[in-house]
Amino acid sequence: MTLKDYDTVWLDREIREVKYIDQSKLPGELVIKSVQNLDDIRNAIVDLEVRGAPAIGVFAALSMYVLSVRIGGDSMADFVKEYVRCSDYLQSARPTAVNLSWALSIMRAELERFTLHRFEAYLLDPNLSDIELDDELRGYIGNVLLKKAIEIYENDIDVCRSLGKNGVSIINAGDRILTYCNAGRLAAVRYGTATAPIYLADESGLNISVYCAETRPLLQGARLTAYELSESGIKTTLICDNMVASLMSQGMIDKVIVGCDRVAANGDVANKIGTNGLAVIAKHYNIPFYVCAPMSSIDLSVKTGAEIVIEQRKDIEVTDMWYKTRMAPQGINVYNPAFDVTNHELITAIITENGVVRQGDGFLVAATK
Ligand code: MRU
Repeated sequence: MTLKDYDTVWLDREIREVKYIDQSKLPGELVIKSVQNLDDIRNAIVDLEVRGAPAIGVFAALSMYVLSVRIGGDSMADFVKEYVRCSDYLQSARPTAVNLSWALSIMRAELERFTLHRFEAYLLDPNLSDIELDDELRGYIGNVLLKKAIEIYENDIDVCRSLGKNGVSIINAGDRILTYCNAGRLAAVRYGTATAPIYLADESGLNISVYCAETRPLLQGARLTAYELSESGIKTTLICDNMVASLMSQGMIDKVIVGCDRVAANGDVANKIGTNGLAVIAKHYNIPFYVCAPMSSIDLSVKTGAEIVIEQRKDIEVTDMWYKTRMAPQGINVYNPAFDVTNHELITAIITENGVVRQGDGFLVAATK
């Protein structure tokens, strides 16, 4: 079995567990894991075994179903209280990608829709404590949450396919494309965001080639993008992050296509740390810079990128990981933000499943119509 034989995350309906490719083991080993309890689920996100904005969202939705069927208690109120606790705990796993809270809030709203319809009660209504949670009621709730979680999972596949179709319109024959981090199939369920147009362009015989920048400190470009693109037979070249300006100055890059973790209402984009630098360099060399964003990554509640919370991660990702011995003096201060914000003025267009929104089109106002 190879990567292509699996989705990145999926539900095993029989045992009611969430399965996923453990991305922390790639590219060395293709390991499939299965989870069903809250700590294991949250740790899978925190430890980047499941990573990439859309994949985290789908994983969270499937997980809430899996957790819900294991919640004990005798009353509807006990069930809801525990459901909300699990959901809030998962939400705290990673702050920057909006897809996590997006998926959790859809699942929560679905549960609330059920309680409103059946008991005319909002989720935390104390009257729910008078309602006994028998097997029949458990069955109904399970079905409601299962249906919604599967909808989110299937929606991701459809969205990435549509995004790919829209994105292929900006690719020309022979293009040499730079991508960054991993916004590929491993970051979503099946096709990826930034890689969806790349896969389609390749299938259409456009003879494209891709440069992956390795993406310090966690090397998602080297470990994941270089792996999945080369496995697909796409002409792929790996470069260090600090080589980008050199390649651009020599006319070796025709366009940049990246993914995103959250898009603000003005079109500013939070993405993997280093993205902003790429965009600045691309602007200098007059190279178009595209961001692929499913609508679920667009957060109109934040006006500009300045409001987006940037996740800070552990020092050892910079000082120790991937090295045989530590590569920095003991006790050195480390600053390790996992994401940065690229100003909308540096972005040529945002590609969504609904269309390509170019700079000057009024950005997301157009995309959200
Ligand atoms: O920290 P990660 O690996 O979860 O980072 C997310 C990303 O992979 C990127 O920022 C990516 O480009 C967006 S996910 C489609």
